[in-house]
Amino acid sequence: MQLRTGELALMRQLALQLTGVALDESKGYLIETRLGAIAERLGCNNFNEFYFRTRYQADPKLLEEIVEAITTHETIFFRDGAPFEALQFKLLPEVIDARERMGQNKRLRIWSAACSTGQEPYSIGMVVHELLRSLDGWDVQILATDIAKPTLETAQRGVFAEHDVARSQKPLLMQKYLEKTPGGMRVVDSVRRLVQFRQLNLLEPFGAHGPFDIVFLRNVLIYFAAETRLDIARRVAGTLLPHGWLVVGAAENLLDAGPQFAPQTHCRATVYQPAVQPVAPAGRR
Ligand SMILES: C[S@@+](CC[C@H](N)C(=O)[O-])C[C@H]1O[C@@H](n2cnc3c(N)ncnc32)[C@H](O)[C@@H]1O
Repeated sequence: MQLRTGELALMRQLALQLTGVALDESKGYLIETRLGAIAERLGCNNFNEFYFRTRYQADPKLLEEIVEAITTHETIFFRDGAPFEALQFKLLPEVIDARERMGQNKRLRIWSAACSTGQEPYSIGMVVHELLRSLDGWDVQILATDIAKPTLETAQRGVFAEHDVARSQKPLLMQKYLEKTPGGMRVVDSVRRLVQFRQLNLLEPFGAHGPFDIVFLRNVLIYFAAETRLDIARRVAGTLLPHGWLVVGAAENLLDAGPQFAPQTHCRATVYQPAVQPVAPAGRR
């Protein structure tokens, strides 16, 4: 189905309303292929008809399908490497110390917001395992959320194609924490049991989720307009404990989010500790 005059704007509006994703002008092809197929199946003659159908008569299943089609789910185990090094050698050790000071030792709460098909929260689980060795006596919860329901169902199954697993730059950890299964490679139970998957649209209130020691909010802010990006970053920061860390994607930064988001570099990863205010230079305190 081809976009006619004015319909690209209508489809961009639909994407924005459902997900916050700001599709730019160059995404006409993506809309024609991904949304066009759904529109044709529904018997719509054009995108204009499709828009009004989705806005005024849509059933939740159809909206889920549209959200799945609009969003990009590209991910990989240990994506970009550095954030997971920072997690293991800086963030988690400091969080564990802070928890001890709070009198809540052996408890960890981590959130992978926009987890896609699950490789990110499972990678976090593997790092936790590596660091703590035995999880005996530990209360570890990794909350993994995404807006796209079919994507979350894939995540929850925890079974990945061998070629997908082979793309990871951590082959030893892949060997250790995934086992062969008829459908591919399955994440071992001791990691799976750390992760809970929930559907959550970052545009909406986060409800009772939190507070967290660490939030991974990676490779999702890039899809939003500036105002939405800042609003989400600030609300996510609000779910962090005072010692908590925020990790965003390599192509994302929060330089325009104010002094609360002073970037720090650890293990070549940029991370933020938004509740800890940067110390003012001497003479200006
Ligand atoms: C490119 S993936 C990033 C996956 C993982 N965080 C990583 O860095 O590899 C982006 C994910 O953001 C999700 N997403 C897009 N808009 C969202 C929204 N409004 N709320 C929650 N998740 C959203 C998509 O469904 C997709 O799975």
